[in-house]
Amino acid sequence: MHGVYHVEPEKVKIVAIAHDMAKELTNEEIQQITDKYNIELDEIETRNKDLIHAKIGAYLMKNEYHFTNDMANAIAYHTTGRAEMSLLEKIIYLADATEETREYCSHHYVDIIKKDIDQGIVEIQKWVMGRLLERNKLIHPNSIECYNYYIEHNKSKNESNE
Ligand SMILES: [Fe+2]
Repeated sequence: MHGVYHVEPEKVKIVAIAHDMAKELTNEEIQQITDKYNIELDEIETRNKDLIHAKIGAYLMKNEYHFTNDMANAIAYHTTGRAEMSLLEKIIYLADATEETREYCSHHYVDIIKKDIDQGIVEIQKWVMGRLLERNKLIHPNSIECYNYYIEHNKSKNESNE
């Protein structure tokens, strides 16, 4: 095992490579896959193409590449995050948000994440949701639930450390 958080590096690598597999699909291909696997897109996913690739990718990887539920969930929630994420989900979500081509200073966030991964999630959600608000974009309920969950979770964690 390597790095700051203990998770199988091979598993992280595979999910990281696969996480955007559905991003380049055409609308027609997306339709075929949603029909094939009976995938229900919620209202916000339907209105925001950026979100669809996460859910579609998760179904594809689970059904056609035999990903475990945890690996598929890491893909399904890599764009929005959610409450009570597994370590693998957190790593994929945060790695995607802080990769070097992002428009803001990712090193600031990487430092926070290395110290406290759950605090990193709160800070990234604040940044991402702030950007969505500025641009009059919809916010998916999973992101809000993620923020609410980790704000409270971190508070109780800090209280028990005092
Ligand atoms: Fe993505």
